[in-house]
Amino acid sequence: MKIAFIASECTPLAKVGGLGDVIGALPKALVKLSVEPVIILPYYRSIEKYKPSKTDIRLETSHDENKVTWSVFETILPETEVKVLLLRHPDLWIDEVYGSPNDAFRFAAFSTAAAKLAKILKVDLVHCHDWHTALAAVVLKDDKLPTVLTIHNVHPGTEMDHIDTAELAELSIDSSKFISVKANHPGYELLAQGVATANFITTVSPTHAEEIKNEKFGGELAGLFRQRERDLEGIVNGIDTDVFNPATDTNLATNYSSENLSGKTECRKDLEAMLEWEHSDDPILGVVTRLTSQKGVDLVAEILPQLVAAQMRVVILGTGEEAIESKLSNLARKYSNNLKILLRFDAALAQKIYAGSDLFLMPSRFEPCGLGQLIAMRYGTLPVVNLTGGLADTVIDNQTGFVFTPLSAKNLLATIERATAVLHDHPSWQTMQRTAMKQDFSWAKSAARYLEIYKKLAN
Ligand code: GLC
Repeated sequence: MKIAFIASECTPLAKVGGLGDVIGALPKALVKLSVEPVIILPYYRSIEKYKPSKTDIRLETSHDENKVTWSVFETILPETEVKVLLLRHPDLWIDEVYGSPNDAFRFAAFSTAAAKLAKILKVDLVHCHDWHTALAAVVLKDDKLPTVLTIHNVHPGTEMDHIDTAELAELSIDSSKFISVKANHPGYELLAQGVATANFITTVSPTHAEEIKNEKFGGELAGLFRQRERDLEGIVNGIDTDVFNPATDTNLATNYSSENLSGKTECRKDLEAMLEWEHSDDPILGVVTRLTSQKGVDLVAEILPQLVAAQMRVVILGTGEEAIESKLSNLARKYSNNLKILLRFDAALAQKIYAGSDLFLMPSRFEPCGLGQLIAMRYGTLPVVNLTGGLADTVIDNQTGFVFTPLSAKNLLATIERATAVLHDHPSWQTMQRTAMKQDFSWAKSAARYLEIYKKLAN
């Protein structure tokens, strides 16, 4: 079975967030189930270092009634045999993955070209991801080529996938049957069109599949999700358990496993040394995240005085919204002994934090699946999470982590205090660490479920 994955990101070729990790991992897991995946991405300049070669595939779309010829390049997903095809439009050259003022238009153009390529490649099914490539499902509707649309983030209330009728006409897309989800708002949301037309819709955890049927999480699309609930399912993401493995991770000072946790103590000392903290039993709370309001890091900032008073130490690694970055930097100056803010993307350092911390904080306002809590548990660092989305589906309160609801700074603080009480009781803490580390967070189960869905649709 040949499946085309059409997406905006793919780790390690082009990674911004968790979407990239899924596109870099799920196809690999499907290969083990005899699926032949092909990943189709825009040609970003950042991928040039992987030295893609030009293919002779002829791919044309219409643009303003003129023919546009796309160049199709080819590479492989590093350390796999999975083929990656990269589409380059002659004018819409893409430097960055996101952030240009015409994102909606360029991803719409890419989606139409990618859909066409999927037909040329004679795949059995097309799997689109998020708003960027949702339009491919619409374009393929009349082609009897089944489509699955996975929603990693609905982005409720944002305008980023908004496209107007003239732009659609420019891409030769007939929008007469398009649905409008925002009253009195000219133009269309690309994700909504995909949700209305894809043969099947998934999101990345069962709880989030329920949540998005509700306006609080699904925004203007909630009604549409309710209409399509029979074709909507939540499938939890996995992690690459070969990469995220404390027993083999080369980023760590010492490797360890659930049978022998002594290496974790060494990793903790290594983290302390790196952050210029003296060695002590004072709890280390780690945060590795994009700094956006979704992730609730502002709540950690809010309770910082209390955490410091209780002699806790906090390390935050990530980049994101400027306002959050500068607020954290100011706090780090004030609480320089207890708070380290590392405003960068650093995969190796992230692993040291996952391994060397005691607790991992993830007070997300919403979290379709979440990756950090899974990695933390695999490294025996117990997560403190809000009861939402994938956090609710993957962390078991008092067994593999600490779960709280409703979300508030007060509840976050109370839960950290509850967790540190267990931390000081070594045997109970180690039991929880071992239980967390032994959970199966691999892709195997979820990949098998995707395959069942593909088979059902492709028949
Ligand atoms: C988005 C979601 C996150 C999810 C990831 C991969 O980044 O916010 O919860 O884990 O996509 O599906």
